[in-house]
Amino acid sequence: MAKAPTIRKCLFPAAGYGTRFLPATKAMPKEMLPIVNKPLIQYGVEEAMEAGMTQIGFITGRGKRAIADHFDTSFELEHQIFGTSKESHLDDIRQVMDSCDFVFMRQREMLGLGHAILTGEPMIGAETFAVILADDLCAAPTDSDEKRALAQLAELYERYQCSVIAIEEVPKEDTASYGIISGDEIAPGIYQVNDMVEKPKPEDAPTNMAIIGRYILTPEIFGYLKQTAPGANGEVQITDALKQLAQNRQVLAVKFKGQRFDCGSIEGFVEATNYYYENHYSD
Ligand code: G1P
Repeated sequence: MAKAPTIRKCLFPAAGYGTRFLPATKAMPKEMLPIVNKPLIQYGVEEAMEAGMTQIGFITGRGKRAIADHFDTSFELEHQIFGTSKESHLDDIRQVMDSCDFVFMRQREMLGLGHAILTGEPMIGAETFAVILADDLCAAPTDSDEKRALAQLAELYERYQCSVIAIEEVPKEDTASYGIISGDEIAPGIYQVNDMVEKPKPEDAPTNMAIIGRYILTPEIFGYLKQTAPGANGEVQITDALKQLAQNRQVLAVKFKGQRFDCGSIEGFVEATNYYYENHYSD
């Protein structure tokens, strides 16, 4: 079989309001909230880079300009700190900016994650692409050299050439916060998806295997998204489109290695902050 081309593009849906973090997110995008000294969205872009992706697409909305500024040169700042020891604080972001291209599209109406991904179709075209939900912060495993979640998914895509999503077992009482899958385990921790449901009540959930915000999607997903009616919360759900795709094609779900923090919640955000401060921060 011909080798699938390496995935180049990664989409970041980033139009949500971040109401759980008000008032912090009143005038600032939630994606710019820092975990220690780095905004959440930058962790996501660095994870995409680690997986070999350098074409970064943001689906934004009103009030999200700080994201575009973050990935652009700040002339005054560069001028101010040029030649001082403070310059080293810009090393990571400079590397990101030098390695990637950034494209921004606005989602004019908040019609759900599926709609946000569909908004990105013009910048994806007919290629397999990745999606990162930056709220889900994924750290590399500490007990191996394995890379972060998206690189693990990309590796599976190379092997199976189909859509791949990340999953994690969650407490049964939490299923209503996630998309939940069921499927047949075809290799340790790898499931061929046969059902998916968005935010089921615990009593309706087929399993406790929850979708985490990392996806590799083949471009046929756009056709399915166009046919997907609004579902849970009245929104167009990527979960519903993927369920349809899984009826016709192989869709894999993988229990990725490493730790994941739900930075869309205050508790997860604090946990991530402590983790990164203890494990990754050096002054
Ligand atoms: C989205 C998806 C859901 C997934 C979750 C992971 O939900 O719709 O299937 O489990 O992300 O974080 P959201 O958290 O945006 O409501």
